[in-house]
This record gives sequence, C-alpha cells and structure tokens, in this order.
Amino acid sequence: MSSPVTPLSRVSRGRSNRGGAGPRGAAVPEVGPAGCGAWVALPGTGAGTGHGALHRGRLRPGRAAAPGRRPQDSGNVKQLYALVSETLRYSPVLDSIMDGAALLKAEKKLPPHLAKVLVYDLLFGKGLKCGGRWKVLVLKHRARLQAELARLKVRRKVSCNEDLLVPTEGVIQALQVPRYVRVNTLKTCKDDVVDYFKRQGYSYLGRAARMEELSSLSGKQFLLDPHLPELLVFPPQTDFHENRLYVAGHIILQDKASCLPAFLLSPPSGSHVIDACAAPGNKTSHMAAILKNKGQIFAFDLDPNRLATMSTMLVRAGASCCELANQDFLTVDPSDPKYSNVTYILLDPSCSGSGMVNRLPAEESAPSSERLRALARFQRKALSHALRFPALQRLAYSTCSVQQEENEDVVWDVLQEHGTAFRLVNVLPSWPHRGLATFPGAECCLRACPAATLTNGFFVAVLERQQECTSQGSSSSLPAEAEVDGGAERSQDGEGRGPRATRKKRRKKSPCVK
Ligand SMILES: C[S@@+](CC[C@H](N)C(=O)[O-])C[C@H]1O[C@@H](n2cnc3c(N)ncnc32)[C@H](O)[C@@H]1O
Repeated sequence: MSSPVTPLSRVSRGRSNRGGAGPRGAAVPEVGPAGCGAWVALPGTGAGTGHGALHRGRLRPGRAAAPGRRPQDSGNVKQLYALVSETLRYSPVLDSIMDGAALLKAEKKLPPHLAKVLVYDLLFGKGLKCGGRWKVLVLKHRARLQAELARLKVRRKVSCNEDLLVPTEGVIQALQVPRYVRVNTLKTCKDDVVDYFKRQGYSYLGRAARMEELSSLSGKQFLLDPHLPELLVFPPQTDFHENRLYVAGHIILQDKASCLPAFLLSPPSGSHVIDACAAPGNKTSHMAAILKNKGQIFAFDLDPNRLATMSTMLVRAGASCCELANQDFLTVDPSDPKYSNVTYILLDPSCSGSGMVNRLPAEESAPSSERLRALARFQRKALSHALRFPALQRLAYSTCSVQQEENEDVVWDVLQEHGTAFRLVNVLPSWPHRGLATFPGAECCLRACPAATLTNGFFVAVLERQQECTSQGSSSSLPAEAEVDGGAERSQDGEGRGPRATRKKRRKKSPCVK
C-alpha cells in the first residue's frame, strides 16, 4: 500500500455566518487568532509556511475526533457516551419508573434529564458512584425506585432488565444494514484492501451480482458492492473503528447511500467543485478521491467544530485538493471570479435526518411540520443559490431524510423556478427505489431505505444544465432518458467506472430533452 500523503488543504473563515439552517451555527469558532476572512492551516500539514500572510493560526480541535489521538481523553468520553446512550436506550422504562415513584413531583429542583441519568445509573448502571448533591436527592428515593422497577418486571412478565427493552423500529432496521467500507483510493486500492482482509481471516466472495446477496452475508464473509466499484460490504454490526486501515485513512466507514452523491456527480479529474454544506466531509473526501486530488474542491460549512473534525479527517484521508471555509453557503457570491470555473456542485444540506437508522431513541419521532417547513425553506434557498453559479454543469442534491417535503418537493420547486435551464438526470436506472411520483420525472431521483436498498434512508437527485437547443427540438425541464446504469457501465474487468463514462456519448446524441 502507498504511504500516507500530507494534504495542503486550507481552512478559511468566511465573511459572514448569518442565518442558514445549520443547527450548530452558534458555536464559537475554535480557530487561532485569525479574524474574519483569515486563513488557517490544517493541523500537522506545515501548510502555514507556504501561503505568506494568509496563514495566521492553526486549527486544533479536530484532533480530538481522530481515532488514536489524545488517548487520555478517550476513556472518559467513552464512558460518558455509554452512560448517555444507555440512558436513552432505557428512556421509556426510566420514564415509567420515575412516574411510578413520583420522583420529579417530590424533587422539583431536580432537572428531569439529569434525574433520568442518575436513576439509570442507580438501577441499571454502576449504582450511583458519583453525582454530588443530586445523588443525595435521588438516593432518598432508592427504595421506591427499586420497588417500581420490580413491579414493572412483574407487569411485563420479564425477569431481566434487558427484556424490558422493546427493540425500536430504528434498532431493528440498523440490524439489517450491512457494514459498508469505502476504499480510499487516495491511499490504497481495492485489491490491496481485499488482500489485507483476507490475511485477517475474512473470506472474499467477489462482486455481488444482486443486492440480495448483501443481506445474506454472515461471519467473516465480505463482498464487493454491485453498484459502487470501491465499496466493500461486510455483515451488519462489523466494527472496524479500531482497525488499522481505518485509523490510517485507507478505508472510510460510510453508508452506501451516502456514497451515491459523489459517485453520481463524478467530477472529472481537474474539475473545480463546490461542496456547499460539507462537514464532517465524508462526501468531500470521496470527491477528492474521484478527482484523484487534481482540481479544486471549495468546501463550505457554517459549523466551525464540524469543520475542525473535517480538516482532521481530510488529512487522514490524504485529500489535498480541498479549501475549507467556515462560511454560510448562501453568502458565497456566484459571480466571484474565484468560482468562475466551478462546474460541479454537491449540495447535502442540513435535513431532518429522518432516514438515519442509527438515531438515538429520543430522536426517533417524526420531525414536526414546523421544523420540516424551516428545513425545506433553507434547502430550497441553497439549491436555488447553487444553480446560480455561471459555469455549473451538474449538481447532486442529497439528504438523509425520507420526507417528501425535503426531497421531491424541494427539487421540483427549484427546477420550476429556474425554467428550462436545468433538467433532472435519470441516474442508475437499475436502482430499485425511486423518487416518489409527485411530479413528472420524479422517478429520475433515487431513494434509499433499509428494506429496499439495505442502507440508511436517503434521497439523491442529479441536475444537469440543459444544453443549447439545436434544430432537434425545444428544450424542456423534463428528465433525460435513462443515462447511467450500474449494470451498463462496466469496464473491462467487469466493474463500474462511474457515471461519466456513458454520459459524454449519450449527450452527443440527445443534447435536448423533448
Ligand atoms: C448533512 S450535513 C453535511 C454532511 C456532509 N456532506 C458529509 O457528507 O459529511 C449538513 C451540514 O450543513 C451545514 N450547514 C447548514 N447550513 C449551512 C449553510 N447555510 N452554509 C453552509 N453550511 C451549512 C451544517 O453545519 C452541517 O455540517
């Protein structure tokens, strides 16, 4: 395998940080002393020396997120994470016990969320070893809480605590979704990774011919995905977070659905690309790999903490063609000469996340209609803004939401707003789960969900600028004919080469959609 490379990506802070739907936009930037518009070097790159006065600080916090870094913190963080997620897992049970014992009525000053963590630790955890003055309050009710737990078990006819947990829909779905491993071609190649896993005792079954094969994997078997050429598939719950290849950035643990936007956008090497809402950067690093680090990715995000994590991740992945900016994408000026060669945009805006199967139990309820409206308003604005970049040829819009309001509705509204300038591209015709038929051509969009595609819930639409019309007919915003099919675009070794492979040929034949 090739040795790690040191990227020279840059992070800038944009001039404005207003608005946007980013839920974490208010966080204080943890960059060095740099002021507005200042440039900040990535950690460990040494990039600060090559760009003169532009570099005034170092971006630090992303280091904390890197596996293997700051080992002194990892124990506490792991314990805290375990305590919080276990409390959430037991949340309905704890509600019932606390109600039965009238804990919050008796202790009005005890914050409800803290009460829940303490009761979890008392009844199901380590027995409330710490907790200060709050511990004293909860311990006063120990006997009543224990009696409520015993009563609940009798009522539900179970003998152990675990049996009180009815698996949620999300948990059941998460158990069906395979572990997808994207080979980071900036650092290694598929064959080397396959060999590595074989040496680790895994058995490689080759490239899957059909999606169903992915669901029958067990033990130490793995496959190559039938759609994505650099995606390996392992049984659900396989954990590679401690794996050497993951720690070294040779593999990226990324759900298959989340690999679709960069794969379908497929910018040619050397292109200028915008990643409008980029952090934590999985899709950015995927695009850097597709570009072979040649060209330029302008990556924006409102959230400085997520950007910090992203910069660390990009260093680890060896992505060196990215320029990161802590800026509201809506304030990026499409007429700025800096972006005059941007021909590809990936827009993966903040969304309700309703498709994520691994969400915490507390997040599982459907998003409120008010929240959906606010998100869709931002998504429409961002998509419409993206289509204003003058050289733009192709755009991938994606969300990890399953709500029509954030997906088909956004795409259709914005397509109409832009008249005949852009059309939807009918990507991956062999993909089994399509956009909801809410407008003519919506089936060109892709949907994903655990049951149909063995992935998280997801949505992708690819928009392309309409070519100038010739005598063949007038242009229309209706979608193009079938353009890309994973099965139809195999290279000589039988593997997919990416959507662009067939695009050029077909465009010649049919520049306009009638
Ligand atoms: C779904 S996440 C992006 C995930 C990312 N594409 C990836 O693959 O790792 C959405 C991101 O949009 C950012 N965001 C929200 N509003 C924004 C805005 N107005 N401009 C730029 N970024 C924004 C959020 O901070 C968040 O990091």
